[in-house]
Amino acid sequence: MKISRRKMLSQSLYIAIGSFFVPISTSFATGNSKYLSKGLELIHKVLSRPLDVGISHLDRCLSSNKIDIENHAGFKDYISSLVTVFFGHHHGEDEIMFPTFEEKIKDADFSKLKKQHKELHPLAEQIKDKINIDSPTIDNYREIRSLLQDTKDLWVKHREEEEQTVELDLEPVLSSKEQIELSDKLGKHGQSMSNPATLILPFLIYNLEGNDREEFTSDMPWILKKFIVPVIWKKKWQKMKPFLLT
Ligand SMILES: [Fe+2]
Ligand SMILES: [Fe+2]
Repeated sequence: MKISRRKMLSQSLYIAIGSFFVPISTSFATGNSKYLSKGLELIHKVLSRPLDVGISHLDRCLSSNKIDIENHAGFKDYISSLVTVFFGHHHGEDEIMFPTFEEKIKDADFSKLKKQHKELHPLAEQIKDKINIDSPTIDNYREIRSLLQDTKDLWVKHREEEEQTVELDLEPVLSSKEQIELSDKLGKHGQSMSNPATLILPFLIYNLEGNDREEFTSDMPWILKKFIVPVIWKKKWQKMKPFLLT
């Protein structure tokens, strides 16, 4: 069967993108048993920054009582990407990460972390609905601001608790090899959650800076991170640029 070049390219991109849902170079795993928690910390950073950026942007609009209509389309893409990555990440934890540890540790109890996911999801759904309009009012923005704040309040607690649990209780029971296998599974799961890649990939990369971005993209083909995303796909994501890091 003949596979088109475009299809082959998109398949290889999905493989690369999938790894970003628990991103970290496999080289970490060989000399460092904190493979899983390092990846978790990075994706949590990707999810944390947009909450602050979104709240600050809305505060500026609310204080001047004026919608920044010029940047609304980019803001909509940015917040929609946040919700997509949020769902993808939590779904991977609920369906793959927690069950893996429940199997490994007989008395493992993830009820609190799972409950926090369940509390966060309706908020993310509401944000998705409310941001997805072309002509927002100041009242829409006020509602979204409030939802982002509620999400942030819950998220900060959840993130801290989950990172501690993984690093102190879970990670030590897995070998580096098992950590890589688990991360691969989570990565593959992430592939199906990364649409559209032309928005999600720049969203993931440009919400991190410095060493974090380096680590996050270390397994990514050079052509993807240095050419396809910044050059070929730029038209697709450049509206989000005011909210991303350079
Ligand atoms: Fe998480
Ligand atoms: Fe979580």
